[in-house]
Amino acid sequence: MTIDHGVEPAEALRTRIAEVLARARARTAGLTDCVDEADLVAQHSRIMSPLVWDLAHIGNQEELWLVRDVGGREPVRSDIDDLYDAFKHARSNRPALPLLSPAEARGYAGSVRDKVWDVLDRSSLGGRNLERDGFAFGMIAQHEQQHDETMLATHQLRTGAAVLEAPAPPPGAPVPLEVIVPGGEFVMGTSTEPWALDNERPAHRVSVHAFAIDAAPITNEQYLAFIADDGYHRSELWSEAGWAHRVAEGLTAPQFWEHDTDGNWWRRVFGSMRPLAPRQPVVHVCWFEAEAFARWAGKRLPTEAEWEKAARFDPATGRSLRYPWGDDDPTPARANLGQRHLEPAEVGAYRQGVSPTGVHQLIGDVWEWTSSGFDPYPGFAPFPYREYSEVFFGGDYRVLRGGSFGTDEVACRGTFRNWDHPIRRQIFAGFRLARDLTPGETDGPR
Ligand code: AVJ
Ligand code: FE
Repeated sequence: MTIDHGVEPAEALRTRIAEVLARARARTAGLTDCVDEADLVAQHSRIMSPLVWDLAHIGNQEELWLVRDVGGREPVRSDIDDLYDAFKHARSNRPALPLLSPAEARGYAGSVRDKVWDVLDRSSLGGRNLERDGFAFGMIAQHEQQHDETMLATHQLRTGAAVLEAPAPPPGAPVPLEVIVPGGEFVMGTSTEPWALDNERPAHRVSVHAFAIDAAPITNEQYLAFIADDGYHRSELWSEAGWAHRVAEGLTAPQFWEHDTDGNWWRRVFGSMRPLAPRQPVVHVCWFEAEAFARWAGKRLPTEAEWEKAARFDPATGRSLRYPWGDDDPTPARANLGQRHLEPAEVGAYRQGVSPTGVHQLIGDVWEWTSSGFDPYPGFAPFPYREYSEVFFGGDYRVLRGGSFGTDEVACRGTFRNWDHPIRRQIFAGFRLARDLTPGETDGPR
């Protein structure tokens, strides 16, 4: 039930932490240096912070955990903790706050990081909980990368000329429609992954019935068939809450889709208009849209446990892997992660990332909505602070799995849990479907 990854020598771990922190900061700089001052302080959407808020918030969290807590140092700036506490000010109110200017925010995040290099040099990377295996450093790198993904979503909402560039993702290939995942117990969550966050812990056994799951995420082409079949106007396909939301917001297609007078569909991608790519996974749909599509298709969203079993369970050994392809870290050939591309790749593009049961693109491309609410695993303990996960349990949140093209590999693994409200569309989210087996299809114990 436990996985032995071997023990990484402290100096190799220190070097890896330095690389991971530097990669996050390079990405933060790339997302904030490409726009002017007015753009950094503007609110591109009421549901997003100005980019300059994320920038200083990244520095402030790093100061709280690495400079003050792990390092035991004096505050760099104790006067701004309140401004950058995400729980104190709603996103819509953040532009009105006396925020640090872009130059001050850059300077602040830079001074914090200078101190952190020294704290990292002196840390034992062992001993007490927060420093063991470099957890606090890994947590802060994940935090910065999560905000970088949020800033990328702000870039997608921003109007005006394109400022971000990246090569096109690799081409797709044929994939089967569905695969069957055997029923029975598997190990969900982890107690051994050193940088796993509190909500991924502890490892525990979960049993699921055998089920069928789509071999790839639902594509734009499949989603167009739902639109063409009047999916947005048939209330019987939607839940009561979903229909009320659909009507109130006037939803008729995924966010950022537009069609011309010839009936061709286009998608606005970071400031460029592109013809809709039929074989790419659909992105920027909310949970309610995914739910309606599922009812239209005669299927359902997978539960979180089913998703994780499809992503991690190896029938040959009965073991749960760290990733669909095995225990090794992601590579560019295994998954579309890290903002290497600015869109999801066509289905079938990552043969090297397939799971033992034959499921494609579980990691990267698009976050995948599951049917599950965000709840603690049995034995959950908040660590190191209640506000990371615990305060969100039991709300209307739905769990998303797998990461997107905008997720860095440090903030993505087979056990990683993301969550958001069922109405959210600006995140890089799509979905795949599952279904119960019919009598006669059963494969393995039920
Ligand atoms: C886990 C992505 C929902 O962005 O709200 C960032 C991550 N927590 N700062 C979020 C997070 C604190 C969180 N999500
Ligand atoms: Fe944060």
